[in-house]
Amino acid sequence: MRNASIHPRTLGYLGRALSLEYSAVQQYMTQAALAEAWGLRDAADRFRHETVEEMQHAERLIKRMLGLGVAPNASQLRPAGLAYGLVELLLQDAALEAEIVALYDEATNFCRRIADTENAEFFNALLQDELQHAAEIETWLESLGVARRTTEDERAYF
Ligand SMILES: [Fe+2]
Ligand SMILES: [Fe+2]
Repeated sequence: MRNASIHPRTLGYLGRALSLEYSAVQQYMTQAALAEAWGLRDAADRFRHETVEEMQHAERLIKRMLGLGVAPNASQLRPAGLAYGLVELLLQDAALEAEIVALYDEATNFCRRIADTENAEFFNALLQDELQHAAEIETWLESLGVARRTTEDERAYF
């Protein structure tokens, strides 16, 4: 039975988040396979580790949705982008992580505004994880000599 006290917009954030987390799983899993095919074993391991973390995020969302009495409903799985090199893959990751950060930030702020503390804390915990991912991708890119230009939207977070 669906919990009537949950704001429909909060349910919308959960659904969009699940779509993005599944998309991240597909993207990192694809990148692990590509990196392995290119002989980049360390990179493949890092992408595999990232895949597991994104799966755990999807699991947290599914448990929360079930706890709220709604069926998990990810609906828009993005195609994983293909690339010709590691830097190109990491730039795709930076873009996806920035998008997820923006979503969790918006969801956290919305839940705080409507005094839904429990869901605000839930989204904020995921936000902190994704900020960490985004920072790791930036550091990885920097180690490859790429200084990625932070967009105006992202600048608020880093
Ligand atoms: Fe995630
Ligand atoms: Fe992530």
